[in-house]
Amino acid sequence: MTLKNTPDRWGAVSQSFHWLIVLLILALAIVGLTMGELPRTPKYFWVYTAHKSMGITVLALMLLRLGWRLYAGAPKPVAGTPTWQAAIAAVTHWALYALALAIPLSGWLYDSASGLRPFRWFGLFDVPKLVGPNEWLADQARDAHELLFWVLVVLVAAHAGAAFYHHLFQRDDTLARMLPRRRPRPTTPTQDPDHVA
Ligand code: HEM
Ligand code: HEM
Repeated sequence: MTLKNTPDRWGAVSQSFHWLIVLLILALAIVGLTMGELPRTPKYFWVYTAHKSMGITVLALMLLRLGWRLYAGAPKPVAGTPTWQAAIAAVTHWALYALALAIPLSGWLYDSASGLRPFRWFGLFDVPKLVGPNEWLADQARDAHELLFWVLVVLVAAHAGAAFYHHLFQRDDTLARMLPRRRPRPTTPTQDPDHVA
């Protein structure tokens, strides 16, 4: 598999960014939706710091991914895709980029405006504050963080649904070209000159 995208497949770099970020967003969603219920023990703060650290990681990965996408381009739409479907897919992809950048940014803004102590990224270094304490801004950023997350959920449901629809019903390459290529099938005995029956 090539590193760069080709006219008919996503390369290894785009695939790795895609699936790693899917896993991180899933983990962030589970932790984000449950952490508010935790008892206020030292572990509570540890879980919040883990959520924030993972979120900043997604922000950094998304910026790298955006750079790679602008450099490496995208495959052509799968043969036979109507123009309107290709246009919707392209708009959805850019909207997913915007959301996966805006969600961690709004979280970071909320953390900054809340006037809390700086948190350490996975315990390694202090993450700087974007703004000084500001209760109004903190409330707005927190609402935006939650709202944008639910917009992402709806869009991802449509996006993943479309991918599975193409795979199961259209039986085209849309999903397969975002997955590592399977090894070629072993040759049959009659085709394999080294085969001993
Ligand atoms: C792609 C990245 C991220 C995702 C998908 C995500 C997702 C979520 C979700 C689903 C919630 C629960 C929302 C609710 O129901 O109230 C949440 C809460 C929270 N997130 Fe994130 N988050 C991300 C990044 C960040 C970052 C980078 C920070 C801070 C640096 C952050 C800080 C917080 C905080 C402090 C809360 C608790 C809000 C509250 O008190 O209600 N998040 N996040
Ligand atoms: C189980 C969930 C998911 C599935 C099955 C899935 C599947 C796919 C497939 C098959 C493609 C290639 C489409 C094509 O070639 O036209 C793709 C592209 C893309 N997906 Fe997903 N996806 C999922 C979740 C997500 C999530 C959570 C995001 C949020 C960031 C996302 C963002 C993107 C983007 C931005 C592209 C365009 C390719 C790029 O620029 O890297 N996907 N996805």
